[in-house]
Amino acid sequence: MTAETTQTGNWVEVTTTDKIPAGKVIHVAPAGTHMALANIAGKLFAVDARCPHKLGPLARGTVQHNEIVCPWHRFRFDVRTGQSAAPAATFSVRTYPVRTVDDRVQILLEHDIDN
Ligand code: FES
Repeated sequence: MTAETTQTGNWVEVTTTDKIPAGKVIHVAPAGTHMALANIAGKLFAVDARCPHKLGPLARGTVQHNEIVCPWHRFRFDVRTGQSAAPAATFSVRTYPVRTVDDRVQILLEHDIDN
């Protein structure tokens, strides 16, 4: 695993692009955190792994359009904003910046996550 420090945080390598094909969501755990990493039409998005409803495992959910669907009660979360759609619109998950460097997938963790 490699990391690059910026003013706002650290880019931490979590996997490689071959492990996250289009239409899939996987669990990654950089620096003790837990996230669901989704590939939607070739673009990667990271959100908190625990559903805010009843802590369902979003990394075991499915990807539909721009959303991850929780496997427990089917709440949907937009991976771009973290916001759930109605009727569960009061729920949201945190989102994290994702980038690829060659075939390496990196997530930006803010400094306070490491401390
Ligand atoms: S735990 Fe995710 S929708 Fe209920």
